[in-house]
Amino acid sequence: MKNPKLKISPSILAADFGCLNDEIKSVEDYADFLHVDVMDGHFVPNITFGYTILNCIKSKLPLDCHLMIENPAKHIHHFIESGAARIATHVELGEEMTKLSLDITKKSGKPAGVAISPKTPVEELFPYFGLADYFVIMTVTPGFGGQKFMAKELSKVTYLRKKFPDIEIKIDGGMDNITAPLAVKAGGDNIVAGSYIFKSKNRVKAIKSLRMLGN
Ligand code: DX5
Ligand code: ZN
Repeated sequence: MKNPKLKISPSILAADFGCLNDEIKSVEDYADFLHVDVMDGHFVPNITFGYTILNCIKSKLPLDCHLMIENPAKHIHHFIESGAARIATHVELGEEMTKLSLDITKKSGKPAGVAISPKTPVEELFPYFGLADYFVIMTVTPGFGGQKFMAKELSKVTYLRKKFPDIEIKIDGGMDNITAPLAVKAGGDNIVAGSYIFKSKNRVKAIKSLRMLGN
C-alpha cells in the first residue's frame, strides 16, 4: 500500500555533478523534495558546494537544504535567494547559532529544521521544541554518502514521534529498501536517500520501493 504521508527526498550528493540537471530530471517526477547537502570542510571534513550551484539547479521539486557548515546564520539568506525551499542546520553548533538560524529561515517565510548527528543525545533538541518546523535525524555521521545505516539512532525518532505526532521527521543516511521500513516504523515520514536512488540501475523503481512502505 502506498503511504500518502511518506515523503521521499533523493539526495543529489550521490548524483553526477557534471550533468546535475539531467540527473535531477531522472527522479523529479517521482520524488517530493531534492535533498541538497552543503558541506564546508570545517563542520564536516568534506566540501560539496555553495549557493551558486543552487542557482544552476533547474527543478520543479522544492530544494531541501541540509547545511553542514560552521556559520549558517551568515549564509542562509544566500541559500534562500538561490531557491532553497527550506533549511536545516545542525544542533551541534550550539543554542545561540541554532536559534538564530531558525529565526532567519522562518523570517524569510521558509520552514526551518534542526538536524542531529549520531553522537549527539536527543536531549540537545529540547530547546527547539515548538520552534523547529521539522527534525532531521542523521543515521550516519554527516560528511559522506554511501555509509552504513546506524539503527540505534532510530530511538531518537521513536522518542520524537511519541512527543510530536504531527511534526515532520526526516531520516538521513544509509536509507534503502531494507533500512527505510525500520525508519518509517519508528516514526520517520521523510526519507532522504542518495546512493540507493542515484546508484541504482532503475532509479524510479528504487524510489517506488521506498514509497510503498506502510506505517
Ligand atoms: C550525509 C548527508 C546525506 C547523504 C545520504 O552527510 O547528509 O544526506 O547524502 O547519502 P546516502 O543515502 O548515500 O547515505
Ligand atoms: Zn543530508
